Amino acid sequence: MTIFAADARPQSFAADARPHSLSMLSHDLRPPSGDAEWAALRRIQRLTLRDRAGRPYPAEPKHLDPDRLALVLVYRGTVVGTVRLDRLDETRVALRHVAIDPARQGEGHGAQLIDMAEALASTQGAVEVVLHAVASSVTFYEKLGYRAVDWNEPAEHATSINLGKLLVAPSVLRRWLEPYAAAA
Ligand SMILES: CC(C)(COP(=O)(O)OP(=O)(O)OC[C@H]1O[C@@H](n2cnc3c(N)ncnc32)[C@H](O)[C@@H]1OP(=O)(O)O)[C@@H](O)C(=O)NCCC(=O)NCCS
Repeated sequence: MTIFAADARPQSFAADARPHSLSMLSHDLRPPSGDAEWAALRRIQRLTLRDRAGRPYPAEPKHLDPDRLALVLVYRGTVVGTVRLDRLDETRVALRHVAIDPARQGEGHGAQLIDMAEALASTQGAVEVVLHAVASSVTFYEKLGYRAVDWNEPAEHATSINLGKLLVAPSVLRRWLEPYAAAA
């Protein structure tokens, strides 16, 4: 059995060999390859995301940190969305900057992006994903199984809500915990 020290620093995305991309039918979720895909990622962020002061999202140097994984959702060869996975600790990944190109919203790409980001987070060992949802996107996330959770990281916007989702079914978690609860 592997036991992680409580304060062990999680391995960075850059340093480990687990998958950094995923393909499902016509969608790929993967790090941008080349300048054109980085430009597409920034364009989508600029059009859809706002900072605290309501300004279009600035270019994000944090994308290049090894603990963070900036990804594009590619649909039949075209970048239609973006997300960044941030490893918070051994069991939790945060989804940041979830965005679909405004011209391609309402076509199911957002739900596909979240599904694939969760699958990728699972392959990284995460059992929970968390995010700050802007008020206008809360229903979107609720439809995908997200619920309000406590998270000690301050929300980005005054109206943001902290949401999370377990990647392991609660019934499975209960089964895992039973022997330990009985022994306690
Ligand atoms: C929120 C966002 C990612 C959704 O992507 P999308 O591709 O338009 O969503 P989908 O087409 O996959 O929709 C999936 C379901 O969610 C619903 N939905 C999507 N956006 C919604 C919204 N803002 N409010 C309520 N429901 C929404 C759809 O109607 C659909 O429901 P259905 O399965 O019952 O048909 C996209 O609108 C976006 O990029 N918005 C701007 C940036 C943003 O707010 N990002 C979130 C930051 S936390």
